[in-house]
Amino acid sequence: MPEHNIGLTAFPEGPWARAAGQLAGRGHIALPQALPEACWTALREEAVRLQSGAGFAPARVGRGGGLQRETAVRGDELCWLEPGLPAGGRYLEWMEGLRAVLNRELFLGLAEFEAQYAHYPVGAFYKTHVDRHRDSNARVISAVLYLNPDWPAEAGGELVMYDAAGGELFRQAPAGGTLLLFRSEDMPHAVLPATQPRWSIAGWFRTRG
Ligand code: OGA
Ligand code: MN
Repeated sequence: MPEHNIGLTAFPEGPWARAAGQLAGRGHIALPQALPEACWTALREEAVRLQSGAGFAPARVGRGGGLQRETAVRGDELCWLEPGLPAGGRYLEWMEGLRAVLNRELFLGLAEFEAQYAHYPVGAFYKTHVDRHRDSNARVISAVLYLNPDWPAEAGGELVMYDAAGGELFRQAPAGGTLLLFRSEDMPHAVLPATQPRWSIAGWFRTRG
């Protein structure tokens, strides 16, 4: 089993302390096979079921009164995870375990976790942005779990992370089971268009704002 595999909600102390250290030092870390395949497969199936039952809504840009649909900025559609969802509810529980690890290792004072299923139809993208809202510093750590089996390199759909000067830091393909953690405050990133439907869970560990 890969060293970061959560399995039945276990966060082995050594590997996860090292992962937290890297997250603090570099601002990001990618953890392949962070969940057993059966778990992220159940998450994808739940997302597909919700999406076909009209449980998703087009992504909007901004907050509160400034919310508007903006396909020139992002073309994904979203559905909030709720504790009552069979697979999504378990994911929220797993992330409570990770929240405890991050607080123990990094003293971040993370108070809660929120997450959305995200579906990018073929050709959809999300232009360069940071995850922390302009008017709230609640979001501290972003956590994206990818739900796509067999993602070929030529399918596109990578997340591209940039440094403050706009130089490319790294690219992450949305391969099923990979969990990408990064600082929400100051890490600009974009999602490139893909030739296949792209499924993920975008989540944020938050302080109480
Ligand atoms: C987001 C986001 C990245 C991804 O939803 O804010 O940047 O790879 N998602 O899906
Ligand atoms: Mn983002």
